[in-house]
Amino acid sequence: MGRFIAIVIVLVAVALAINSFLPKGDAPADQEKPPAAETDAAETDATETEAAAPAQEEASPSANEEPAAPAVIEEAEEEETEVADAKAKPADTVEPEGDTEVAAKENEEWTFVYNEIAELGNPALTAGISGKGELTAELIDAWIADEKNHEVIVPTLPLGLSLGAAEIKGLDVNPLTHAKIELGRQLYFDTRLSADNTVSCASCHDPAQGYAKDTQFGVGIEGQEGGRNSPVAYNRILSGPQFWDGRAPSLEAQAIGPIANPIEMGNTHEACVETLKGIEGYQKQFDAVFEDGITIENVGKAIASFERVIVTGPAPWDYYQQLTNFEKGYADDIADLDELKADDEELYDEYMALKSASEANPISESAIRGGNLFFSDKAGCTACHVGANFTDEKYHNLGVGMEAAEPDVGRFSETNEAVDTGAFKTPTVRNISLTAPYMHDGSQKTLLEVVEWYAKGGHPNDHLSKNVKKLELTDQDKQDLVNFMAEGLLGEFPKVETARLPK
Ligand code: HEC
Ligand code: HEC
Repeated sequence: MGRFIAIVIVLVAVALAINSFLPKGDAPADQEKPPAAETDAAETDATETEAAAPAQEEASPSANEEPAAPAVIEEAEEEETEVADAKAKPADTVEPEGDTEVAAKENEEWTFVYNEIAELGNPALTAGISGKGELTAELIDAWIADEKNHEVIVPTLPLGLSLGAAEIKGLDVNPLTHAKIELGRQLYFDTRLSADNTVSCASCHDPAQGYAKDTQFGVGIEGQEGGRNSPVAYNRILSGPQFWDGRAPSLEAQAIGPIANPIEMGNTHEACVETLKGIEGYQKQFDAVFEDGITIENVGKAIASFERVIVTGPAPWDYYQQLTNFEKGYADDIADLDELKADDEELYDEYMALKSASEANPISESAIRGGNLFFSDKAGCTACHVGANFTDEKYHNLGVGMEAAEPDVGRFSETNEAVDTGAFKTPTVRNISLTAPYMHDGSQKTLLEVVEWYAKGGHPNDHLSKNVKKLELTDQDKQDLVNFMAEGLLGEFPKVETARLPK
């Protein structure tokens, strides 16, 4: 344990040092990020070893006080050796070509690059294999030969989602590496996983449509339709069981489901594995990433890794929250700004940075009112849409679709508990404006329609959640709620290469 703590302390110190190198406003996710948000990794550790990092404690009373993530901490020990290894290597081996911002730093400490790539949302993670044009055998060989691409990445989350660092899922059993993420990226966009080479994951979870699909139901091979709407495939790193009814215990288990689903990709797992074995570029990458090469489980692991790095970037509400929390925490200090500047320039600068970050990502008065309403008892949305990703990851009956003669029983099919009849998993509402239509059956076309649904108290049925009841909302309240979700919670996705697959 002593050794463990020592390692954590070293890591914190390293992380702090790295952060002091970071030029302000040069953050990877192209957002100008205030200093407090840049120290997620350090803070995750710092909460474990409070004494070791007092500076972190006082850095900001705001958004980022998160408990340590068990998965991440467990890996901290492994991390030590990687850090040591990495030190021996030149800095420029990790980032893909063409990323000039990163490349320009190649003469700085290796740690700079290593830390930078670990922040999810960094496009370097999803830019595809280094190089341009067709994915040749030479490019793949060079990629898998580069040890840096196989190092375990201990990720940090962008502002907003960073509050959920303690809920990071799955990395203990399926650690992230750049090579695995990239392999997953290729598989995600590859129609060859389907029986007739027409459908990929992206067909129903399209980056151009918020990693969901604008059709009411998913449309699989030969135009077949199921009875459920395609949910989003982002922010999965904070999510455990998958599907509207939670029937897949993990993202890995979920990822191989659609391949063999007759109305989705219509393939068999055996045939899919055979197809991949026939593609040299995949064969090479699987052999390099996994001890047992191409198996269907490894397909799941690779795809899950790619999905875990697709996260929503900071939204205007996140910047606004960060600023207001600071203003509350330092109300006395900021009462006289001239005095603050003279007495504590660092705190003054931090405040100015938070202010300008919020101004650069403006939020309307209506969206702010909507946000306050969302969190209030009057609307009660946070009874279920809570936490960094605005979901409790639990199952509730709102009465959606319950008027049907034979309604979709939802979670009941997993638990056989009457209370779960017609209950579905709470979806995130981050970036929700990109993914209409809404609800498990895609029955609601606009966010206003959804809000109206809640206002009238859902649809009465025997199993209606007790947290769904008639709300006293004015038209303005409703519009405010819509604006909060549509505008206040809209953040950027990382840039993702959608082509460049092995031949
Ligand atoms: C034909 C359309 C279609 C294809 C192809 C498809 N999906 Fe889905 N996906 C859906 C639908 C519909 C659901 C919801 C099904 C349910 O809950 O029963 C879903 C659920 C999911 C979920 C669960 C999200 C959550 O909130 O629980 C994830 C993750 C996901 N899909 C990823 C993938 C991946 C990865 C692939 C490729 C291997 C893929 N999907 C292929 C339509 C599709
Ligand atoms: C009792 C828990 C609960 C409460 C309270 C709640 N929600 Fe939901 N929300 C859910 C569940 C569960 C779903 C999916 C239901 C379904 O498809 O049958 C959902 C769906 C949504 C969707 C559609 C998401 C999508 O991807 O289809 C939006 C938007 C939404 N809720 C916003 C709100 C707002 C705004 C409030 C407050 C007025 C609120 N919710 C209150 C649990 C809740």
